[in-house]
Amino acid sequence: MQNALDLKSRWVWVTGASSGLGREIARQLALEHRAHVVISARRRERLEELRAELMGQGATRVDIVCADLSQPETYEATWKEVAQGRRIDVAVLNAGVTYFGLDLDLDPLAFQSMLNTNIAANLYFGRTMAREAIAQSRPVSLFFVSSLTAENPFPYQAAYSASKAFLTQWALALRQELEKTPVSIGVFAPGGIETEMLEKSGLRQQFQPGHLGLMPVRQCAKLAIDALRAGEAYCVPGPLNRAAALAFKLLPRGLVIPRTASIYRGGLPK
Ligand SMILES: NC(=O)c1ccc[n+]([C@@H]2O[C@H](COP(=O)([O-])OP(=O)(O)OC[C@H]3O[C@@H](n4cnc5c(N)ncnc54)[C@H](OP(=O)(O)O)[C@@H]3O)[C@@H](O)[C@H]2O)c1
Repeated sequence: MQNALDLKSRWVWVTGASSGLGREIARQLALEHRAHVVISARRRERLEELRAELMGQGATRVDIVCADLSQPETYEATWKEVAQGRRIDVAVLNAGVTYFGLDLDLDPLAFQSMLNTNIAANLYFGRTMAREAIAQSRPVSLFFVSSLTAENPFPYQAAYSASKAFLTQWALALRQELEKTPVSIGVFAPGGIETEMLEKSGLRQQFQPGHLGLMPVRQCAKLAIDALRAGEAYCVPGPLNRAAALAFKLLPRGLVIPRTASIYRGGLPK
């Protein structure tokens, strides 16, 4: 890859690193790209396990900052801890939660928690890092993990897909606003990934291991890092997901939304 961002010995902050895509991105950054990583999530024991694994395999620096991104009052302290004694050059803002089910059954507290984690935290850290980088005239890369569901209203993931649509639109608009600054912004919009999110949400019922619509997490993480290093504005990984994104754009919503509903309805608890 020509002119790709060299991550060797750079500090990269990865949120949602205790499982799934974030864990795999942190792994590949630390072991294949020789980046220093700060890994964040709520489950400290998972982060400790990952640090031990990575250090055992020759990673340079792996630091842990535990954070609950559903709690906006903690954001300022979290950022201070992440930035303390380190110059963070890249943030992979990946942490996210979904809800699969009838929208009217979504508990108000769980809904608020989803909005905070999927939207408010990303906006807070993105804006804070961008302001600091501009003030110090130094480059920073902000890489937001959104979702293909942002491209289309997803019945039974209504609030989640809308939260990701917010994130995608905000991040791409900010990228344009900051075009002439040292801040680089990218959005990654994967389709289904083989992670524990499927179990947590109940989506596993509909998407069994090996389902064509599920991308292996290692492959997805590699494509995410490729997009980050290339400075891509918007990346939908994999030809199947790109075909779906194109269909969402070209086909009438009156056709696509009921079709999406019929695929996902099968996963609802009987
Ligand atoms: N899996 C898919 O099919 C899929 C498809 C498209 C997009 N995505 C997106 O990809 C990203 C990663 O998802 P994944 O599939 O890897 O899911 P995952 O395995 O469930 O991992 C989610 C990560 O986010 C962290 N997280 C959740 N709530 C948090 C909170 N309140 N505070 C701090 N960290 C929190 C979790 O850590 P703790 O629980 O330890 O806090 C975990 O590390 C998400 O943004 C998701 O929306 C996933």
